[in-house]
Amino acid sequence: MKVNNQHYRTIWPDPDNKKIIKIIDQRYLPHRFIIEDLCTVDDFAASIKEMHVRGAGLIGATAGFAMYCACLNAPEKNFTASITNDSQKIIQTRPTAKNLTWAVDRQITVINKCATKEECIEKTFKEACDIADEDADFCRRIGEHGLQLIKEISKKKSGEPVNILTHCNAGWLAFVDYGSATAPIYAAHKAGIKVHVWVDETRPWLQGARLTCWELQEENVPNTLIADNTGGHLMQHGKVDMVIVGTDRTTFTGDVANKIGTYLKALSAKDNNIPFYVALPSSTFDWQIEDGVKQIPIEERSGNEVNYVTGLNDKNELETVLVPLKDTKSANYSFDVTPARLITSLITERGVVAAKREEILKMYPDKKSE
Ligand code: MRU
Repeated sequence: MKVNNQHYRTIWPDPDNKKIIKIIDQRYLPHRFIIEDLCTVDDFAASIKEMHVRGAGLIGATAGFAMYCACLNAPEKNFTASITNDSQKIIQTRPTAKNLTWAVDRQITVINKCATKEECIEKTFKEACDIADEDADFCRRIGEHGLQLIKEISKKKSGEPVNILTHCNAGWLAFVDYGSATAPIYAAHKAGIKVHVWVDETRPWLQGARLTCWELQEENVPNTLIADNTGGHLMQHGKVDMVIVGTDRTTFTGDVANKIGTYLKALSAKDNNIPFYVALPSSTFDWQIEDGVKQIPIEERSGNEVNYVTGLNDKNELETVLVPLKDTKSANYSFDVTPARLITSLITERGVVAAKREEILKMYPDKKSE
């Protein structure tokens, strides 16, 4: 997508030195656009854990390149032990996003078929690039399928703007390009359909306020930032036509883990008869887990993210300030699970499907055995 009218992806190999992988450091957006070089497995692990990169798809793509970096830096002698150690280091960074283990496992399958370190380096580089390209392509296709849903609502509203509520950032910054929840919005905007997006600020990390608003503004999509608890009120008053969110892990039975607060939006949407869509590439499905509430691991992050906020001061500097009294105890659950019964449909790269075991497995018959 575009930044200052220039096309960017969220992760890419340095064109002059394949040993360096470049990312946009999202901690400083929207006030600073900083590109960071990742050169070691520790750089990669820190970039995921400390959320220089974040969002399920991008976490997966970064993990793909991290495994290539592990091959580059592994000693010839202890190659296998070093790769095992590094893969564990990468997997432990963030527990909820399925794309993380999915990408690491995909690279381990590649490594297991190689005879030499050189072959591992070459093949894992190609696989990491394929994972990134596939992520972008799947998101583009999610956009095409989701566009039809927005078109239908637009027709019913005789061309009046379609009001879409979204939570967190499931935009291009959360993937390699396009985004999942935002892909249908960008496609509709491009097709000349009037859309307007209600953006939940998404405490505590403020992905909505900092990232989604910025993305939408760069693409000239009309949007309004709202405090997290506003959605229910807007829905009661007919100001939301549909909800589209992303997901970090979706069970094959249709339960969805996404940013904390998503469940409450789904409950409000159900109570107000508003369609609630979840957009995801198939790399986010967990083909093993049946019960999302009981079985999806929910990341708990530092309470400092709740107690402190960072923003721009009047000297144009980034400043972090404490909100509650010092040493206030806080809890920071990063995700919650929305049960399948609250979800209208899933929007995937293969099409729109009910959040039901039989329907999901019918759309992905090749995944049954995984
Ligand atoms: O903690 P984050 O910023 O990685 O969480 C991101 C989200 O919750 C997104 O909505 C989710 O990853 C789905 S879109 C990739």
